[in-house]
Amino acid sequence: MCTHNVTKRLVKEAKINSLPVELKYWPIRRYMDIYKKSLDDIEEFWEQEARKLEWFRTWDKILEWDPPFAKWFPGGLINASYLCVDRHLKTWRRNKVAIYWEGENSEERTLSYSQLHREVNRLAVALRKLGVKDGDRIALYLPMIPELPVAMLASARIGAIHTVIFSGFSSMALADRINDTEAKVLITADGGYRRGKAIKLKEIADLALENAPSVEKVIVVKRRGQEVKMKEDRDIWYHELVKNIQGSIDPMPIESTHPLYILYTSGTTGKPKGIVHSTGGYLVFINSMYQWVFDIREDSVYWCTADVGWVTGHSSIVYAPLMHGASIVVYEGAPDYPKPDRWWEIIEKYKVTIFYTSPTAIRMFMKYGEEWPKKHDLSSLTILGSVGEPINPEAWLWYFKHIGGERCPIVDTWWQTETGGVMISPAPGIGLVPLKPGSATFPLPGIDAEVVDDNGKPTPPGVRGYLVIKKPWPAMLMTLYKDPERYKQTYWSRFPGVYYTGDYCIKDEDGYFWLLGRADEVLKVAGHRMGTMELESAAISHPAVAEAAVIGKPHEIKGESIVIFAILKQDHVPSEGLHEELREHMRKTIGPIAMPDEIYFVSKLPKTRSGKIMRRVLKAVVSDAPIGDVTTLEDEASVEEVKQVYEEFKKIIGHT
Ligand code: WT7
Repeated sequence: MCTHNVTKRLVKEAKINSLPVELKYWPIRRYMDIYKKSLDDIEEFWEQEARKLEWFRTWDKILEWDPPFAKWFPGGLINASYLCVDRHLKTWRRNKVAIYWEGENSEERTLSYSQLHREVNRLAVALRKLGVKDGDRIALYLPMIPELPVAMLASARIGAIHTVIFSGFSSMALADRINDTEAKVLITADGGYRRGKAIKLKEIADLALENAPSVEKVIVVKRRGQEVKMKEDRDIWYHELVKNIQGSIDPMPIESTHPLYILYTSGTTGKPKGIVHSTGGYLVFINSMYQWVFDIREDSVYWCTADVGWVTGHSSIVYAPLMHGASIVVYEGAPDYPKPDRWWEIIEKYKVTIFYTSPTAIRMFMKYGEEWPKKHDLSSLTILGSVGEPINPEAWLWYFKHIGGERCPIVDTWWQTETGGVMISPAPGIGLVPLKPGSATFPLPGIDAEVVDDNGKPTPPGVRGYLVIKKPWPAMLMTLYKDPERYKQTYWSRFPGVYYTGDYCIKDEDGYFWLLGRADEVLKVAGHRMGTMELESAAISHPAVAEAAVIGKPHEIKGESIVIFAILKQDHVPSEGLHEELREHMRKTIGPIAMPDEIYFVSKLPKTRSGKIMRRVLKAVVSDAPIGDVTTLEDEASVEEVKQVYEEFKKIIGHT
């Protein structure tokens, strides 16, 4: 069946503007039948899905559920590198393109599946020679170049555990993550490009390594050819390391519950969390999910614009599309560099069929105007995706019209680093339900999602509550690295026995899920997840800052922007210079994504009598919203001061 024709017709029939849609509508009924059946017996359901992959040995058990710790398919032996690469060599796909790489300067590289196989093997053999063993951690701090997926697959091939650190992170953030994993090897590059500027990755890495003693070897990819210092006995050029390696290494049969990777993400405390993902369960889940959500096929040309440094890049650029034998596009540069039609040019050039991006990017392109996509033939597109933050209906409709030519369904995919794969989304691969712009629609098969109130009771339609997941699923995080207690606390204690997502959600009359953003102290700035505490401790580490409160302020393009309220230490006075210094300090401590848009110096912060900062009050002030209940406030003068400082600022920038 040609699903695309069906989906086209269904989108039309959904009459996007004439809502609400009746639940009796057959696509929903059909979808609900599949969904409900999947939940009758999740083990049986996931076992069927697991059989879609090639295993070296079948599992002894489907699920060992020792709440809240799940072991999926224990006893099963599998290998991610085999599934993403070797398996295709037995088919016609051996000579098809696996990776289309596009450099910021329009350089090109393509790797067929057999070339990818060779590259992965060379690096895997080299890593083994360097003494990397099964279970060892490898840190990857690389720009968006083919060596990044190659290194992930090489690591998976030999049973090592990779931890990718976003190349926009600072040396301190890099050192923290390396130290937590005690990685033995770091793979980085001499540098990267961003808007024509050189990013000195090796220099940043060297700085990090001064405080990260676990790293014994550093492998350096020559990306720019810029001058870098190489430390004897520690640093090796990637190309020299793999130059003389001819042979290959068999993919190691890996126990299903062996970690495939650790990926750090922000939570409500200052310390990032090391999310541990399994091998078997993770691969089973993302394999099925890609078929359901993106209707991915071996002839798909798939482009996810995320950075591989985030979970989206792990599941959506590397593992799932390659398992399906699709061709992926990997783009190194900025979305609007050198011109605002850079992305549309790439879609036209590679005839991208599935395109997956973030609401922030869509809103940015909306501002540039539709004349930019109009310059290009985007008719190859069949499905569009959105991820990372709620998508507002205006952005949804713009995307649908100007990028998808009103032909392509938009899959608004809700998920998290912790969930490993998409949990709530339209699923054109099994049957597209009528879409509602701004709603992620329904949970995927096997995902028992619910919206509950403070007492854990399901909320009535239209009432906001918390999104929870009531049953384990195969790609769920196994634990937090070296911190199982925090894992229990963070996700399984708010509502005992169910997984707490930290997101607000509403289920409407038709049962559609509307995700409304974070319910906790986590910000989403241009889709990047950052904890307020993490940002506050970075601000406080500046020598002039005594105390700081960080909040998110609604932002037209980025969704949220960072605002800092800081109390200075004695002997320091607010100044333009200090303002700049603090911004720069945030960049150095975390990375450019942590640069605040606004900083206010105040002498007091609104706090409760027990000393907790009332961020809610600050948020109301900067959002020009009602302040609400302040009966718990310790000192009302603090609010007045905050308001006054903010009003002054508005005057300066000519705000009304
Ligand atoms: C948080 C997870 C998972 C890929 C990238 C983000 C927000 C994610 C959506 C969506 C509304 C969304 C949630 C979630 N989020 N997708 N489609 N609609 N909100 O991963 O950095 O772990 O962030 O992103 O708030 O909890 P992440």
